[in-house]
Amino acid sequence: MKLFIDTANVEHIKEMADLGIISGVTTNPSLIAKEGRDFKEVIKEITAIVDGPISGEVISTDADKMFEEAKEITKIHKNMLVKLPLTEAGLKATKLCKEAGIKTNVTLVFSSNQALMAARAGATYVSPFVGRLSDTLHDGIEVVADIKRIFDVHNLDTKIISASIRNPKQLSESALVGADIATVPYDVLKKSITHPLTDKGLKAFLDDWNKTFGDKK
Ligand code: G3P
Repeated sequence: MKLFIDTANVEHIKEMADLGIISGVTTNPSLIAKEGRDFKEVIKEITAIVDGPISGEVISTDADKMFEEAKEITKIHKNMLVKLPLTEAGLKATKLCKEAGIKTNVTLVFSSNQALMAARAGATYVSPFVGRLSDTLHDGIEVVADIKRIFDVHNLDTKIISASIRNPKQLSESALVGADIATVPYDVLKKSITHPLTDKGLKAFLDDWNKTFGDKK
């Protein structure tokens, strides 16, 4: 499973890109608004940091206007994916994008049937929202597992991005059920890197070394 970072914060993207762990970036209107900066400017900076798929989301709700926005978004950089919501208009825009050779990430997916619709409309990626599902009485990971099974059984080549990841457990479970990608917030990436036993073990190694050799390398 590949890792994308789910943020529009350029410093956080740079920090994680320098570790070599992320191969793409997802943004949404809320994440862009949180940074309070111009959409195109932020996206351009991100494309200079990460050489992989970068999702930028449309804000129109009408299919033709979504398609117009999609064309503008892809003009920013060759790595741009257009994020479209799973609505009837979003599906129609997905089809138009597919016909125009524009790659899409269909977002706000909460069921396996919605994912199937997106795949049939020609989506390059679908983004089931694990965290938001699990915030309710549903099991977000089970939805990802169902989508994976359906796509495999029916030979659909749409890729699954496990999105709205809230904690390291959801990240690990996404990998176990076969999501192609997980898009992960900065704080969950940080939490997934560290382990108290790693810190404790490293301290013991260095203390033992220093006791015998002092600061000799
Ligand atoms: O990628 C979708 C994601 O940004 C939504 O996350 O935490 O707002 O549910 P969240």
